[in-house]
Amino acid sequence: MKKIILAFLFGGLMLSGIFAKTAVVYFSATGTTEKMAKALAAEINADVIEIQPEHKYTKADLNWRDKKSLSSIECNDANSRPAIANKIDISSYDTIILCYPIWWAYAPKIVYTFVESQKWEGKKLVTLCTSGGSGLGRSGTDLAKFAKGVDFKGGKDCTRGKAAEHKNYVEGLLK
Ligand SMILES: Cc1cc2nc3c(=O)[nH]c(=O)nc-3n(C[C@H](O)[C@H](O)[C@H](O)COP(=O)(O)O)c2cc1C
Repeated sequence: MKKIILAFLFGGLMLSGIFAKTAVVYFSATGTTEKMAKALAAEINADVIEIQPEHKYTKADLNWRDKKSLSSIECNDANSRPAIANKIDISSYDTIILCYPIWWAYAPKIVYTFVESQKWEGKKLVTLCTSGGSGLGRSGTDLAKFAKGVDFKGGKDCTRGKAAEHKNYVEGLLK
């Protein structure tokens, strides 16, 4: 009996931790963000949700030197909201750690599709990116504008560094 009570108490403590109801949601076109997001999720024991594009981006789509490539067209269109293939529901989470690559200094438009499709009141949001070097910039604050009622905590570029360091950083934001 004592063991059962202790197990319940310990379980309760684990669940009430800072990452208790946290999901790591990510979009990744070429795998860099996916690797970072999954490593962080494993470190903090959080669920992982992928934003899967209905149209999978090809190499040609991702050519930023081509003004007519799909990524260029989307980035230059404020109203672009590419379709998501999978159903995502964040209603059971308190905190969302949103991970994405930087495209032309901001998040890819499909990340806006995700943000606009969810209810954010009472939820905390952290934004983490990977980039070729330009960093998070205003991408997080811009996304937060579309998440009505969200408590935006900030974020950073996590291209470099270990998952344990990213965990410490996010922990600091959520305290
Ligand atoms: C269309 C496009 C635009 C990009 N724009 C930027 C940029 O403005 N600044 C930057 O540092 N990196 C930029 N990058 C590089 C990506 O942010 C970087 O390679 C990222 O880690 C890719 O993540 P992924 O593998 O998860 O898709 C761009 C990449 C693409 C495909």
